[in-house]
Amino acid sequence: MKKFSVVIAGGGSTFTPGIVMMMLDNIDRFPMRELVLYDNDGERQAVLGEALEILLKEQAPDLKFSYTTDPKEAFTDKDFCMAHIRVGKYEMREKDEKIPLRHGVIGQETCGPGGIAYGMRSITGMLEIIDHMETYSPDCWMLNYSNPAAIVAEACRVLRPNSKVLNICDMPVGTLRRMSQIIGKDPQDLEVRYFGLNHFGWWTSVKDKEGHEYLDQIRDYVAENGYLTQVEVDTQHMDQSWQETHKKAKDLLAVNPRYLPNTYLKYYLYPDYEVAHSDHNYTRANEVMNGREKEVFTAARTIIEKGTAVDGAFHIDSHASFIVDLARAIAFNTHERMLMIVENNGAIANFPDDAMVEVPCVVGNDGPEPLVQGKIPAFEQALMFQQVTVEKLVVEAYVEQSYQKLWQALTLSKTIPSAKVAKDILDDLIEANKDYWPELH
Ligand code: NAD
Ligand code: G6P
Ligand code: MN
Repeated sequence: MKKFSVVIAGGGSTFTPGIVMMMLDNIDRFPMRELVLYDNDGERQAVLGEALEILLKEQAPDLKFSYTTDPKEAFTDKDFCMAHIRVGKYEMREKDEKIPLRHGVIGQETCGPGGIAYGMRSITGMLEIIDHMETYSPDCWMLNYSNPAAIVAEACRVLRPNSKVLNICDMPVGTLRRMSQIIGKDPQDLEVRYFGLNHFGWWTSVKDKEGHEYLDQIRDYVAENGYLTQVEVDTQHMDQSWQETHKKAKDLLAVNPRYLPNTYLKYYLYPDYEVAHSDHNYTRANEVMNGREKEVFTAARTIIEKGTAVDGAFHIDSHASFIVDLARAIAFNTHERMLMIVENNGAIANFPDDAMVEVPCVVGNDGPEPLVQGKIPAFEQALMFQQVTVEKLVVEAYVEQSYQKLWQALTLSKTIPSAKVAKDILDDLIEANKDYWPELH
């Protein structure tokens, strides 16, 4: 079987060890000959790189492994680039979350003003790594899960329309695992219908391979418990704040009982509740810096000190195996059915063709083929149209370096109550992002 050469862009990510371990666990399904970590912060990446070097020597001595900050070294002779960069790192995520909260508005990584600020930073970083990939390995595919995926995907559509970049999110994967637990099924045996934007969508059907529909059964459960399950099956979303999010799906279902909601809709449908119930001085960025980031980097340092990863504390991120499924779909033309962020082109019949939407796709070696989801009801359509226009305005603002358009984007966001508040937030965000955003006129 062919063996693949892979670069992970954002090698210093808190998710890198879990994903490398997951890929090792799946090495029979997706054989690798080379794995390279690439990051533009060499110091941060070296901690994980050194530890993974020790681990891989012990567990996969035949796999050629290295880590580098040199794009040429990283991207030459690659079949796949797994991308999870965070432009501005946790220092900027904290600002994305805290600045809006100072104005009484949702402070979130990908939703509302925080997501817009992050989007304006991410576009530059994403274009940079796409260009490296195309310079050194023109046939390489990028499997991107860098956020905010909705804005990144729209930027790719506009600025790199022919690039082989696939944008994907793990939230529907995690939630489907919860649904499968609720109905006592294996997630592999379930097939869904879904429509929306990234972090903004609904399941309209959850069936097993025999065609039995579970929507009503899951809905009855979610109406009482949200997506909180007895057994933890979705390993990435476990902290207390995530449990609150799973629980809140109950209130999302109450307002729109027709379909099963993506948990991120809470930021648009209950922003006042979220602002009132969050600690404005200690946000998710602080939780992650004191939680996942500390744990992962401490585990790495321990492996380095001991010189061995035997009994080490890197864990397999098994939920991330959808990344291998996606790589396999491209590499082996498996025609796996997966939710992807793609250009609509009629998949949602009553929604603009040029909107980047999240829908089930059949993925083969030419990439994703979206499956038609038909017409959607007015409530969801109107919410989506407002949000997709925000995302488009952000990309236009980036391209045209337009203050006006970014102000409009913020004003249109359902999370912000007025043009005045939007402007106040924007001016604070510009100041905080001056090292990252294009200059706005
Ligand atoms: P992190 O800050 O720990 O890691 C990101 C790394 O990217 C850092 O080491 C940073 O130096 C590097 N980086 C930043 N700009 C870069 C550039 N231009 N070129 C190369 N490297 C660059 O962040 P994290 O919490 O591990 O998350 C990583 C990314 O994955 C984020 O974008 C996050 O939102 C995303 N994510 C997505 C999903 C999904 O389902 N789509 C799930 C989890 C995380
Ligand atoms: C989910 C989303 C990702 C997001 C992550 C944040 O997995 O799909 O897009 O990056 O949550 O998780 P965190 O633990 O960093 O808050
Ligand atoms: Mn996501």
